Amino acid sequence: MATSPDGELPRVSRGRPQVFISPMPELESPQRQVPDSIMLTGFWYRALPADRIHRNQLHKAMLLEIPLVLGRDRQGQPFALRDACPHRGMPLHCGQFDGEQVECGYHGWRFEAHTGQCQLIPSLTAQQTLKVDRIYAGSYACQEHDQFIWVYVPEPPAAGAGFTKQVEPPTAAPQIQKFSETYKLAYLTADMPVSVDHGMIGLMDPAHGPFVHHAWWWRKRASIHEKQKNFEPIPNGFRMSAHTPSSNSAPYKLLRFYADADSITTTIDFTLPNLRTETIRAGKYWFSSLTTVTPITRNHCRIDVVAAWNLFRWIPFGPELLKFVFAKFVEQDRRTMELQSQGLQHNPHLMLIDDADRPAKWYFELKAAYLEAKRTGSAMKHPIPEPVTLKWRS
Ligand code: FES
Ligand SMILES: [Fe+2]
Repeated sequence: MATSPDGELPRVSRGRPQVFISPMPELESPQRQVPDSIMLTGFWYRALPADRIHRNQLHKAMLLEIPLVLGRDRQGQPFALRDACPHRGMPLHCGQFDGEQVECGYHGWRFEAHTGQCQLIPSLTAQQTLKVDRIYAGSYACQEHDQFIWVYVPEPPAAGAGFTKQVEPPTAAPQIQKFSETYKLAYLTADMPVSVDHGMIGLMDPAHGPFVHHAWWWRKRASIHEKQKNFEPIPNGFRMSAHTPSSNSAPYKLLRFYADADSITTTIDFTLPNLRTETIRAGKYWFSSLTTVTPITRNHCRIDVVAAWNLFRWIPFGPELLKFVFAKFVEQDRRTMELQSQGLQHNPHLMLIDDADRPAKWYFELKAAYLEAKRTGSAMKHPIPEPVTLKWRS
């Protein structure tokens, strides 16, 4: 095969820099890429399941290596503060909370729970004129949706001490799309001892299915077959276009109770920083999920799956069956990543190959484009210029 002047293999589609239409030549060496585990600020993140946060109590959490204290006021409204007193860094979760103000356990400074504004410094005498209300504990915008408490992590991360007020988030926290008045909701959560990048690319990776997610009631390795899926760019991410789910996918098997195979469609979106949304529709029935991979520290993430649906009303054990299936998948992924983390300790070279790892490449390109846009202050340049078809066996 002729090589171009710079020694590279000729590109398949001349005039277009991206070889998205045709697969890369088989022998082109796979791209080597080590996830950088940069954690993106300027986004909403799921902090904790809502049912773990109780009124008038303080709970510890961590997002992007920022220690947080979460709670609910007397009315049940959630709040999030940086878990470090602006006086001398004492963790605020060790203090007292009366349903309105958080009192530090060291010198008793008191902070309004939602704004972080200091209300009282007990050591001040009547003659001392320090302006108490100019002092703030770091405080974060906080919303409750679909069984989770979401916290907005601004950029740069709010300072732990001093005079910084809460940053107003530009958007509301993400929510699950719902298509009827009544529906059910359930969540699953699992800690993964790997970076958010490995968590994310594990989530978008189609090739591990037959090896990790096998079960007698679902699929065997022998069920591997060639697949072809269309992808398109969407703001901050990409979409696996609406298609009939693979015949060996679990939701599909469940949905066949409800509708003709042909009328079932599923759409999957991946968007920065960490979101995977899946929408399955079968006539008037629907199933929607929002999965997030939350960076806790640079080497540790948490996967939260929240699903909403109006299915399974007349199937005995419907919701339980669904939870069982998803719990099994999440546990298989968790176990795999636990083992993977052992291999990653020694910092091996890693590969991303076409086409099965193309979504992972896009994820890294999207992240790089987002950071570049932030650095230059210009609009984000989307790395996927046009719809693409990917092929793999799984
Ligand atoms: S460290 Fe919190 S009041 Fe002094
Ligand atoms: Fe998986």
